[in-house]
Amino acid sequence: MKIKIKADINKKGPKISKQIYGHFSEHLGRCIYEGLYVGDNKNIPNKNGMREDVIDALKEIKVPLLRWPGGCFADTYHWRDGIGKNRKRIVNACWGDVVEDNSFGTHEYFELCSQLGCETYINGNMGTGSLQEMCEWIEYMTFDGESPLALERAENGRKEPFVIDYFGVGNETWGYGGNMTPQYYGDLYRHYQCFLKNYNTEHPYKKVCVGPSDFDYRWTEEILEKCYAYPHPEGRHGFMDLLSIHYYVIPGDWEHKGSATDFTEEEYYTTIRKAYKMDEILTRNSEILDKYDKNNDIMFAVDEWGCWLDVEEGTNPGFLYQQNTMRDALVASVTFDIFNSHSDRVKIACIAQMVNVLQAVCITDKEKMILTPTYHVFNMYKNHQEALPLITECENIPILSVDSEEIKAVSSSISESEDGSINISLTNISLSDDYEVEISINGMNKSDISASILSAEMDDYNTFDNPDNVCIKDYSGYTLINGTITVKLPKTSIVNIMVR
Ligand code: AHR
Repeated sequence: MKIKIKADINKKGPKISKQIYGHFSEHLGRCIYEGLYVGDNKNIPNKNGMREDVIDALKEIKVPLLRWPGGCFADTYHWRDGIGKNRKRIVNACWGDVVEDNSFGTHEYFELCSQLGCETYINGNMGTGSLQEMCEWIEYMTFDGESPLALERAENGRKEPFVIDYFGVGNETWGYGGNMTPQYYGDLYRHYQCFLKNYNTEHPYKKVCVGPSDFDYRWTEEILEKCYAYPHPEGRHGFMDLLSIHYYVIPGDWEHKGSATDFTEEEYYTTIRKAYKMDEILTRNSEILDKYDKNNDIMFAVDEWGCWLDVEEGTNPGFLYQQNTMRDALVASVTFDIFNSHSDRVKIACIAQMVNVLQAVCITDKEKMILTPTYHVFNMYKNHQEALPLITECENIPILSVDSEEIKAVSSSISESEDGSINISLTNISLSDDYEVEISINGMNKSDISASILSAEMDDYNTFDNPDNVCIKDYSGYTLINGTITVKLPKTSIVNIMVR
């Protein structure tokens, strides 16, 4: 039976924030060093230390936002170690106990974002740092005037203040970032945010409060309870601009997460089932937030998400290096469809992580680089950035039973860009069945149509010897007749259609 998707050009949801296609880069394994930053390595073409091949690839997918320096690493990061001529060498005790020479620090991060043309998201150290240290870092980065810290920044080569778009007040304070109770962190958050000055009043950065992980709705409730109790004397409630959410898809459990490339059909379906849980997480957290934030002032920052799998054999377990298959690509497209459908509350999302770590979009080996299947999904979905999502009604979506739960075999997003073009993304997660999908958009009067496809076996992936094993191809498996688009949607595929 044909799957039917109906929409109306005049029925749209809130704009899809471009920042939900954001990334996360931590001082972890080969993400920053080797992956993004190669310093003065003459063998790898670079501009001011940033490797050109990776930057070019990332610009192509329109990276809108980059979170740094962690993660757990942020919880022990002292910003002074990473500025000036004599950088302090430390041990990266979070990740692999390797020497961190701090050659990539604040100035290099802003250089990277400037080369990418993306917004900045700095995460402060609430684990081993002090509030004073955090305030000084913000002054160092953003004060425009004669303060000693602004002068020091100028001596280090940057007279103009940097622009911070988002600032994270702590990371995972419920666990690795301090084992705090929500009551304790809620108080600390209120306290800290009070002193984190916004020197740039024309472009104030937005403050991100640490929210829940996975299904810990109690954390959300308690944090909001704390932050909404005793409002600010000027009547300001909540004290935050965004609340973070972390959710990793782990096919097995923390001890045995599962191989990145060698998995069964059962494990595949379990992974996809777990990816769909993002919808429940956003729905439940939104319900809690709605009780407090009646004016929709606070948004979610899903600033860590992605597949977390076993590290590749022979690699440092603390480097979190994993391969990336078509399964990862399908997790990404299903997740983007969920984010797009929650555009009322989701402002930011950062895949973990950008290069060489977890569900990376690029993998490097010395002077070589490959794009992962997940990269191609970012490329296929980039037109949804800042577009208006069309509200859809779906009929006959096949339902699969996985681990005694029901999941949809087909997921989708339809949006309208500012220039009026329509972006349609369709994902078929079935390992056995092709489907036919009929899309009718009432009021759409365009006919210039093109399509592309990402299609492979569930465990196919790219290697340095075969870098295009999984890649985007032009697709002709559709018709457009009297305003109705009919698409053949092969098993384990993602189809992207653009109508102009
Ligand atoms: O992304 C890897 C780690 O996962 C981050 O450092 C931490 O915040 C989370 O637990």
